[in-house]
Amino acid sequence: MSMATLQLSKEDAWEAFKQVLIPQCQNITTHAGLRVPFFVTPESIAEAASLPLDPSDVWIATYAKAGTTWTQNIVKLIRSKGEKDGVLLMKSVPWAEAKHPSTLFKVNLSTLPKPRAFKSHMPYELMPCGKPNTTPCKYIYVARNPKDVATSYFFHHIRMTVRKDATTLDWDLFFRNFIYGNVDFGDFFDHVLSWWPHRNDDNVLFLMFEDMKKDPRTAITRIATFIGADISDEVIDKVVAETSFDSMKKDETANYSALNFIAKPGSTAFMRKGEVGDWRNHLTPEQSAEIDQLCQEKLKDTGLLFDFGE
Ligand code: A3P
Repeated sequence: MSMATLQLSKEDAWEAFKQVLIPQCQNITTHAGLRVPFFVTPESIAEAASLPLDPSDVWIATYAKAGTTWTQNIVKLIRSKGEKDGVLLMKSVPWAEAKHPSTLFKVNLSTLPKPRAFKSHMPYELMPCGKPNTTPCKYIYVARNPKDVATSYFFHHIRMTVRKDATTLDWDLFFRNFIYGNVDFGDFFDHVLSWWPHRNDDNVLFLMFEDMKKDPRTAITRIATFIGADISDEVIDKVVAETSFDSMKKDETANYSALNFIAKPGSTAFMRKGEVGDWRNHLTPEQSAEIDQLCQEKLKDTGLLFDFGE
């Protein structure tokens, strides 16, 4: 890590970072103090907040890049008994608080057929329809280790938010901004720690990306039980197969290739690697140690442990 980047203040790191971002991402947008993408607007938040809720509603909540899409697809396919319907996942399981940048993907939340599932990137207290312990809905929170999240988020930025004429996004600069929470959804640890105390609530299922990778069948079975879906072993096998990384990478309803037209040419696909431990190809020993140190400080006495892979 260059000393210059290492020593940047939070403000200077953001100043340098925003130079390579598309104009819409250069202005900081916030909701209740949380940094959110420019397409999470007061109107889109209000639309989600006004939604009459139903006990069959399932929310998939995550910090960015923690396995949201994977879990959305699992819930969708559990409910369809493993049958694919050709409908884009972002339409079947919409991002509740977001007004999608392209009207092509607009979903009217209030006319979505039940049983519904929604995606959200909000921390516990800011969930769009109220705090989960005040609603009749079910919530699946997925957490992923911060080294792989930072890595995945870096490639996400290159794909979706870096200006098309920018030659590159400097990894060290991105890393520093990630550590400072100068990214959408803010500080990684704040987000995970907002959900962690609720992990044993009746209407919360707290999952780890790394456990899902190690044993997808068990994760899928737990999700099915949690959402009250009665499915056979055969259907579970089907859902396991259809939601594997390789299947989803080929599945145009789930692999976000529909957004390629706004992606930076030459960037990695949304379905990039889907691995545990790819961070080893990107973080320097110092960066890895910095995250280890943050884990020690911020997760002390919480019982939350991340799996960083072999
Ligand atoms: P990588 O960039 O590490 O490959 P989100 O949906 O929250 O944005 O998360 C995206 C990350 O989840 C990407 O990680 C993506 O490849 C990974 N992912 C998506 N579907 C997956 C699957 N079926 N199995 C494993 N990883 C998956």
